[in-house]
Amino acid sequence: MAIQTVGIVGAGQMGNGIAHVFALAGYDVLMNDISEDSLTRAMATIDRNIERQVTRGKVTAEAKAEAMARIRTTLKIADLGPCDLIIEAATEKESVKDAIFKALAPHLAANTILTSNTSSISITRLASRTDRPERFMGFHFMNPVPVMQLVELIRGIATDQATWDTLHEVVTRLGKTAASAEDFPAFIVNRILMPMINEAVYTLYEGVGNVKSIDESMKLGANHPMGPLELADFIGLDTCLAIMNVLHEGLADTKYRPCPLLTKYVEAGWLGRKTQRGFYDYRGDAPVPTR
Ligand code: CAA
Repeated sequence: MAIQTVGIVGAGQMGNGIAHVFALAGYDVLMNDISEDSLTRAMATIDRNIERQVTRGKVTAEAKAEAMARIRTTLKIADLGPCDLIIEAATEKESVKDAIFKALAPHLAANTILTSNTSSISITRLASRTDRPERFMGFHFMNPVPVMQLVELIRGIATDQATWDTLHEVVTRLGKTAASAEDFPAFIVNRILMPMINEAVYTLYEGVGNVKSIDESMKLGANHPMGPLELADFIGLDTCLAIMNVLHEGLADTKYRPCPLLTKYVEAGWLGRKTQRGFYDYRGDAPVPTR
């Protein structure tokens, strides 16, 4: 099936990054959110991020103008119905995602492929509550979407091969690389990445190191582009905790128990960059470790 029109639900960090890369690759994008403010902010973010690519000579000014013109926004989820492909990139809560798929259901074209950018929720379970489990897949982009090369393609138990092939082709047209993952808690990237971040928080909790020494150790000692605590702030500590809970509950193994210090930061509302405080305090000119 040829994909040309793409509907994106959610205009946050992931949704606007996804809109950015699809528009640059020549797809017509319709972005939906429940808040007009979020849509306005998302368009400004996309404009700013494509402009960075223009400044660095990676994208021409003409390609930027064409891409911006390909993105439309709507507050009405029903408007997404006729799209060839829909990517849900809303809050990482199963009840929210279910409600979105339910609201979309009466408006969907027969062939529309439904996907979720969930980082850990069961694709099989989300798919089972729709009218098209065979045309439903996990379509997991990494943050920041315009920079990260990987897209995880997650097959639910009922996903058909034609749907997988279509999404694989889309990833190639985006200039990215697909990794195929089976539908088990947190798939591949987060199954490996989150326990590492959680272990870094335990290392802090037990006083083995402080924020600076832990991050420096992994940057300089393991060549990671960001330290694990800096990365946790970048992803969002609430998201990290939610994924650890999915691993802990889904695999029923105590090795995935979330660190109590991670829970405490989330309870404090210190969620990382998005709230200006997490393992670092971002309110000044340079980030300052909070421990
Ligand atoms: N849009 C467009 N371009 C962007 C961008 C954005 N949002 N953010 C950064 N860039 C570009 C910059 O313009 C720059 O371009 P050049 O290479 O042409 O110079 C390049 O990316 C690098 O950016 P910076 O120089 O500003 O900063 P940096 O070198 O420190 O790199 C980083 C920033 C790419 C974020 C790097 O630190 C990194 O790779 N960090 C790790 C990110 C990571 O692990 N992401 C995965 C998170 S897990 C996940 O997403 C899954 C999940 O479900 C939770």
